[in-house]
Amino acid sequence: DPHAGMDHAGHHGAAPAARSAPAVALPEGAPLPALAPLANRSRQAGRFVGELVAAPARVGLAADGRSTEVWAYNGSLPGPLIEVYEGDTVEIDFVNRLPQPTTIHWHGLPVPAEQDGNPMDPVAPGERRRYRFTLPADSAGSYWYHPHPHGHTAEQVFRGLAGAFVVKSRRDPLGQLRDVPLLLSDLRLDEHAAIPPNTPADWMDGREGDYVLVNGALRPVLTLADGERVRLRVWNATSARVLRLALPGYETWRVGSDGGLIEAPRREAEIVLSPGERAEWVVTGRAQPGALVALPYRRGKMMSAEVDETLTLASLAPAARVASAPLPRRLRRIAPLPAPAVRRQIVLEENMADPKAMFTLNGRVYDMARADFVGRVGQVEEWEVVNRADMDHPFHLHGTQFQVLARHDGRGWRDEPYRAWRDVVSLPAGHAVRLRFVQALPGMRMFHCHILEHEEQGMMGQIDVRG
Ligand code: C2O
Ligand code: CU
Ligand code: CU
Repeated sequence: DPHAGMDHAGHHGAAPAARSAPAVALPEGAPLPALAPLANRSRQAGRFVGELVAAPARVGLAADGRSTEVWAYNGSLPGPLIEVYEGDTVEIDFVNRLPQPTTIHWHGLPVPAEQDGNPMDPVAPGERRRYRFTLPADSAGSYWYHPHPHGHTAEQVFRGLAGAFVVKSRRDPLGQLRDVPLLLSDLRLDEHAAIPPNTPADWMDGREGDYVLVNGALRPVLTLADGERVRLRVWNATSARVLRLALPGYETWRVGSDGGLIEAPRREAEIVLSPGERAEWVVTGRAQPGALVALPYRRGKMMSAEVDETLTLASLAPAARVASAPLPRRLRRIAPLPAPAVRRQIVLEENMADPKAMFTLNGRVYDMARADFVGRVGQVEEWEVVNRADMDHPFHLHGTQFQVLARHDGRGWRDEPYRAWRDVVSLPAGHAVRLRFVQALPGMRMFHCHILEHEEQGMMGQIDVRG
């Protein structure tokens, strides 16, 4: 029962508590680990066949040599990197060796609903299944995979189940750059170097760990030649932490979002990534060392409010000078979506008085037997998503990518500064967004807050897309 042990009192008006010091030291400062690639067992061009096994595993995280039980895909933390090309057919043989039902959800990918690891398609402990889908044209981007079983998603992710999924293009305007995936995840360890369950405060605010890991390592070092341009792909795979990322002193260009490249590079000194969100950055190395930092960010009124502190996530070490080609002026064309056939409003609320429905979407909690909306394949939908709650609730939709048109920040509507394909949008308290999308495939698609503790408690709905 995900609600077990929750204490609903004292959320509002509680004094912000400082984050407690980590109970266990982790080694830090090692070279940035590469994400281990998932082996392709197929010899056939255009076909990727891999195996993922979700199982408990013991790994060495603590500096003092004690091991920690995690739940991992193929024993790897984070999970193996799946790297494929647009147009590929992907087949993943999946085995569940966890003590709970699970699924694999292909976050952000346009896969058929019955292959998308929906809560209604659990894989029982000891069972296996094959996920199979074909990636359409123009789907290059940085996606990820994680469990989505009803009632166990948050726990399975904070125990370690999440991995990166990169779809590449054969005509990539940035294909000549070194591609550096950075998967950011959150870890909490107790004094026994074990991963503890959620506290009552976690069930309110969402769980934040004691350490933000980069590719599973604490404050690793990325070596970057002076003048070298690299493409950083960044995943916010934490359960609840909003990451406001910067590389002070470096020239940083935003080149991509959840669903791949944007139309043109944009000079952006900071990138705010909500839980579940991704970004691509092009960064040019310098002769001086630097750091990837997470700047202070407040997620609204919270029981355990964040400390106003800048967090160093990774260090950048300089190396001998190399020259890189200039950034292309155009990266991709993103056509605006036409006027919608349907408009809907989605209101996110908190009701602390009702422990069975604390985090709601249009006044209700998730019910897998209910379709909140009925839509049509190919039909343009425009959704106004309104956050009437006291804290951030990042909004995510399955099965497709959307375009955010405008944002209301509590004072007025403002058009989005540029077009991008996304599947998560940050939604601070009092904000609203207007977004448009088309679902290309039929089936049931979830939409929810990507703070996994809120999703678990029912801040989720579903749209039945009919063919
Ligand atoms: Cu990344 Cu429905 O989730
Ligand atoms: Cu998803
Ligand atoms: Cu939420």
